[in-house]
Amino acid sequence: MANLDSAIENLLQHAHAVAQNSYSPYSGFKVGAALRLTSGEIVTGTNVENVSYGVTICAERSALVRAVSEFGPGIKIAAIAVANLNNSASPPCGACRQMLAEFVLPEAPIAFPAADGMRVMAFSEILPLAFDVKLK
Ligand code: THU
Repeated sequence: MANLDSAIENLLQHAHAVAQNSYSPYSGFKVGAALRLTSGEIVTGTNVENVSYGVTICAERSALVRAVSEFGPGIKIAAIAVANLNNSASPPCGACRQMLAEFVLPEAPIAFPAADGMRVMAFSEILPLAFDVKLK
């Protein structure tokens, strides 16, 4: 991780640490996510699986629901890091991208393990054209 910015490296360390708490008896895949809010707060989450597989929650959404629960609906996410303990690629799934999109700054960096190593991209690059309706 030598060429990563130190703020992203720090966020990745939080993501890696929370992945130790993963409840993943079905897949064995231990994921952690860390969000840095514009307020400076860091909120983490891990994946929590269920015997009814479909109700499993990913690390990214786990972190997101914690952040909204703790800091309210006005949060803005300034940076995201994802890590896993399986030495595997784990770009965030489509459902998590869509849910994060509601709270993230478009230019926020998201760091995640890709097949060719750690990747850092702007959020708007990993989810162009997110579903949106102007009801708000
Ligand atoms: N998982 C995450 O936590 N984040 C992702 O972005 C993709 C997948 C979890 C869900 C499940 O517990 C395990 O990884 C295997 O899919």
